[in-house]
Amino acid sequence: MAERGREHWGSRIGIILAVAGSAIGLGNFLRFPAVACRNGGGAFMIPYFISFLLLGIPLCWMEWSMGRYGGRYSHGSLPGILDAVVRKPWAKYLGVLGLFVPAVIFLYYTYIESWCLAFSVFSLAGTYRNVAEPLAMKTFLQGFQGLTDGSSLGPAYGFFLITFAVNMMVVYRGLTRGIEFLCKIAIPVLLVGGVLLVIRIWTMDSPVPDMPDRTLNQALGFMWNPDFGALRNPTVWIEAAGQIFFTLSVGLGAIMTYASYLREQDDVVLSSTTACGMNEMVEVVIGGSLVIPAAYLFFGLEQTRAMAQSSFDLGFVTMPCIFNGIPWGDVFGFYWFFLLFLAGITSSISLMQPLVSFLEDEFGWTRHRAVTVIGIFAFVCSHACIFGLSMGVLDEFDFWGATLAIVICAMIEVLVFIRYMGVARGWEELHRGGDIRLPGWLKGVFYVTPVYLGAILLYWAIFSWVPWIAKPMGWDISVSWVDGIRVQAGSVNGVILLVRTFLLAFLVGLLWMIRVAWKRKLPARQGTGGAA
Ligand code: PHE
Repeated sequence: MAERGREHWGSRIGIILAVAGSAIGLGNFLRFPAVACRNGGGAFMIPYFISFLLLGIPLCWMEWSMGRYGGRYSHGSLPGILDAVVRKPWAKYLGVLGLFVPAVIFLYYTYIESWCLAFSVFSLAGTYRNVAEPLAMKTFLQGFQGLTDGSSLGPAYGFFLITFAVNMMVVYRGLTRGIEFLCKIAIPVLLVGGVLLVIRIWTMDSPVPDMPDRTLNQALGFMWNPDFGALRNPTVWIEAAGQIFFTLSVGLGAIMTYASYLREQDDVVLSSTTACGMNEMVEVVIGGSLVIPAAYLFFGLEQTRAMAQSSFDLGFVTMPCIFNGIPWGDVFGFYWFFLLFLAGITSSISLMQPLVSFLEDEFGWTRHRAVTVIGIFAFVCSHACIFGLSMGVLDEFDFWGATLAIVICAMIEVLVFIRYMGVARGWEELHRGGDIRLPGWLKGVFYVTPVYLGAILLYWAIFSWVPWIAKPMGWDISVSWVDGIRVQAGSVNGVILLVRTFLLAFLVGLLWMIRVAWKRKLPARQGTGGAA
């Protein structure tokens, strides 16, 4: 099949770094330490690695192979890719989540990314230098977010504008001149910078030298000593699986979109595994060695646990307090937040690309037009997260995008891969042009993935999704093994219901766009059997 003028990656290292860039993000440096700490440190690591092997890696392989396959038919987003693989008229509609999820995450991710840019400037300018205590630092953060009385959202909004503009610029410049170019610079800087920060934290003098329980050894022990007893707690397993999805950027079609720009004979198997490996190295080695050990040394175990209840507190409250307490703290503070910003931006651009590809491939739009229209839409919608932060709008977006829909979308991908691509053909597709061959027994993992995912999905739905969904509707539902299901009357939350209405309308709008697109006769749809 001829490849009709779609863009391609400029180099092999380019796509590896772009995918690694998507994976390495705020999740590695903020979410991972917080989730790991909340779930008992070392206790968390076993379910985490099992999820990596049974969910993360197989999903990456599936996404890369299906993505490259779709690209051969000029499809770069999930609706088109599923159309090419399944060849049934309904399949493209299943792919709607591959547009919905990245778009919804993008709406709040860029805002958080902009906090990193802001705090890197604040570090250099010494804006928070005199804020000594975590409680006061939290107030400083909340003031910046416009959550305290009389505080102004002005600076936060300004940094958001800059961050948003940079994102648009990179995607506007296109695959090789924008995304690949940025990732080739940002990822090496991040790797070197991350290691230097770890060295700085590890050689830091304890602020309380006379307390024998505050040693680096103990801090690392908390993070790394496995606790087999915790394996009986299902929550730890669920949290581990959730972290794997988020950190590897799988289950939402973003990696598929990147893979669709591969050439037919480009290696997939080695490149995808390398990108996953890089993400894990950064997450476990760098992400796991920075925030928690530093917090432990400074504040002790109990306070670190309390701070880890929120990923944001660890990054934006604990770390600034630590920087205030070490020599050259403002420089290291700048360094830490700027690395976070770089990690964030290489991720957020990957969240935009599925929608851009959709408009380019399925509507025949130019990239510039696609980016401009999506940019305007995303810009307007992001305001809900910025101004509705105190009302829980951001959390609601995060729930529907990054928690619920991502798992359902992953399930769709896995089932389509097994049923319509077929494991044998999928295995060949994975190895086409490949530089290495994986042992054949690994094929078996593809059957384990949906079972594992299904079990997790079910548990999640009952224990966490149902209560979350019901709450703003006026039902306080709690589900637990011990007490069973309890329902109490609560209060209706109008703002959240409005957000949900918007999300539903957005989903329906996307479905409608898929329908309209497939009524048009574009080269992408010749020979793939997709009917309107
Ligand atoms: N993987 C990114 C992180 O760790 C987040 C992300 C999720 C980016 C999904 C793109 C797609 O922060």
